[in-house]
Amino acid sequence: MIITIDGPAGSGKSTVARLLAERLQVRFLDTGAMYRAVALAVLNEAIDQHDLSAVAQLVRGVTISFEKERLLLNELDVTSEIRSPEVTAISSVVASNPSVRERLVQLQREVGKHGSMVTEGRDQGTVVFPHAEHKFFVKATLESRAQRRQRELAAKGVDQPISVVMDQLHERDERDETREHAPLKPAENAVVVDTSDLAIAQVVEILLSQIQSSKS
Ligand code: DC
Repeated sequence: MIITIDGPAGSGKSTVARLLAERLQVRFLDTGAMYRAVALAVLNEAIDQHDLSAVAQLVRGVTISFEKERLLLNELDVTSEIRSPEVTAISSVVASNPSVRERLVQLQREVGKHGSMVTEGRDQGTVVFPHAEHKFFVKATLESRAQRRQRELAAKGVDQPISVVMDQLHERDERDETREHAPLKPAENAVVVDTSDLAIAQVVEILLSQIQSSKS
């Protein structure tokens, strides 16, 4: 059974997907982490993020894998590095490169062959797993996503004004929604959940009850 959860940055989808996978006792795939790993490799190799063919060549030569919840880039654990502001800033540019998408989609489908999982990203229900048993799209207002992101940053000791967080989210939304290949949008048959006024635990319950009711 494949369950897809797509949505914009800060919609709460990663946490929801992780918790849902735990409740269902299936695997969890964070596809954003894979795009972030490529972005980190681009930074490490000092490649121009906009150079389509240099980035394409790079992505063909890297290995990206998961070991439990740790992400390995060329066998090295980069779980923390991929969350840096520098990586975040260029990840949506790197993700608009068709060669990067092609390679990562292939890897994601490979992971999906090995049993049930909850997978989250931007294109999981539309492109990567069009035949998934359950598809969700989580959305939230820009304000509530920015507040969530600001709280996450504060927990890491980073204080950022809400206006800056909103601008950054808006910029990434725009790139993710308007790119030519696999733009962010709900799959036609996705259940859309607005998480603006909901706690994460409530969202998980909504998704679980949708999954259970569609079984009966
Ligand atoms: O979800 P995230 O913030 O970790 O994702 C990082 C970037 O990767 C984001 O800008 C969009 C991109 N992404 C994508 O294009 N397709 C996915 N399936 C997942 C993420």
